Amino acid sequence: MRGIILSGGSATRLRPCTKITSKQLLPVYNRPMIYYPLNTLIKAGIKEILVIVAPERAGDYLNLLGSGREFGVKFTYEIQDKPRGLADAFIIGENFIDNESVTMILGDNIFEDDFSEDIKNFRGGAKVFAKKVPDPERFGVVKFDENMRAVRIEEKPKEWLSDFALTGLYIYDSRVVEAAKEVKPSARGEIEITELHNWYLSKGELEVAQVKGEWIDAGTFDSLLAAQVLAKEKLQEKLII
Ligand code: DAU
Repeated sequence: MRGIILSGGSATRLRPCTKITSKQLLPVYNRPMIYYPLNTLIKAGIKEILVIVAPERAGDYLNLLGSGREFGVKFTYEIQDKPRGLADAFIIGENFIDNESVTMILGDNIFEDDFSEDIKNFRGGAKVFAKKVPDPERFGVVKFDENMRAVRIEEKPKEWLSDFALTGLYIYDSRVVEAAKEVKPSARGEIEITELHNWYLSKGELEVAQVKGEWIDAGTFDSLLAAQVLAKEKLQEKLII
């Protein structure tokens, strides 16, 4: 299993804090934000991790994270020259993925849960993770049938579809690279990760599990504040780096 941490983008919602640094390097209590999703990958036993960053911040990431030896893992770095969308990570990462399965986590997603079992037991297809939220319109949303099987997935639906958001942790088999190459840009000009979920869903190979503990996408000032509190009150003893 390979790991990808997607940590590019321009984070205009967090200006001026992100004018001279990357959102995922901002402090969340006593660590840079990216340490939290890195913990999720490293705790699950993933040793080879691709860090995808924006060109103007690449040096900062290299200075902060280095080779990975300090954490018992190996980091590889790639530049994403423009924020083309989340699915772009699998095109950029094609050589790194090298026909293995891959777990991707977003650099601003902070989880309380431990996903080790899901990652270690993954055998193929795709597995994604949903969480009931009060503001589903901010996210990719999944609608379940009465047996809690996913029937529909939409990115930021304009009309209410369900209260279940899809979180920023994704496990795919190696076919995700080919699937990503087929995705056409959406109205907002991005190649959406939702299209990859739908690619697997249409083949009957998408599993949607539920996140039990807390989950925060720290991309707004209010969610960043909530992340600080979660990190201080609940995450400290779970962190290994
Ligand atoms: O947080 C979970 C949500 O993340 C999912 O529910 C959505 O389905 C998914 O599209 C995504 O939505 P966001 O609106 O939060 O995506 P955002 O554009 O904020 O990007 C998420 C992170 O990925 C952010 O930290 C920046 C980084 N990123 C984003 C893009 C579009 C990149 O590194 N490169 C990119 O091209």
